[in-house]
Amino acid sequence: MKIQHSLLVESFKKLTPHKARFTNVFYYGLFRQCPEYESMFAGVDWCTQKQMLVGALSLVVKYTKYGTQDPEMMKVFMQLGTRHAKYKIQEKHFEPFVFHLLYAMKLILRKDWTLELEENWRKALWEVCSLMVKAIEAAQTQDTFTSACYLKQISNYPQENAH
Ligand code: HEM
Repeated sequence: MKIQHSLLVESFKKLTPHKARFTNVFYYGLFRQCPEYESMFAGVDWCTQKQMLVGALSLVVKYTKYGTQDPEMMKVFMQLGTRHAKYKIQEKHFEPFVFHLLYAMKLILRKDWTLELEENWRKALWEVCSLMVKAIEAAQTQDTFTSACYLKQISNYPQENAH
């Protein structure tokens, strides 16, 4: 299924005037289903966080124009994934996240929300999430590699420096 960029553009235009309610509904639903996620956001400035989430969704819409043909947009989401590795986010956290994004969109857009729109948003979000997950895995491999090198160095240390 090819993502219909124009559908996402139109729906995002309808969503943005309600962004405060949309983000409230989203985080309320997410934390209700997954209370353990709340501590991951400890200390964030919620006003900024909500704005950045809406900003990231506008980039998801932009990404759907050219998809994997747009290396710059792919890089944006890989970098977002690398930052999420630092926030200790794992692959398993993405499913509830996407579910509640779609649910919040549905509640806000009401009669403008269609099955077709839902399928298009789901596909777009999952494409982006899979880029983020790739970056998270790469960051974890890098961490394991770095700690393995470090462990090797410290375990060699007494022998190499014995005399
Ligand atoms: C579609 C997937 C996602 C998008 C577009 C997204 C977007 C963002 C954006 C734009 C920020 C602002 C900080 C930054 O740019 O680095 C952020 C922060 C954050 N995200 Fe995500 N996110 C996604 C998935 C997730 C998931 C699955 C979790 C897990 C619960 C998560 C947890 C967090 C946390 C904890 C922060 C705040 C970190 C801090 O400032 O301390 N995100 N996210």
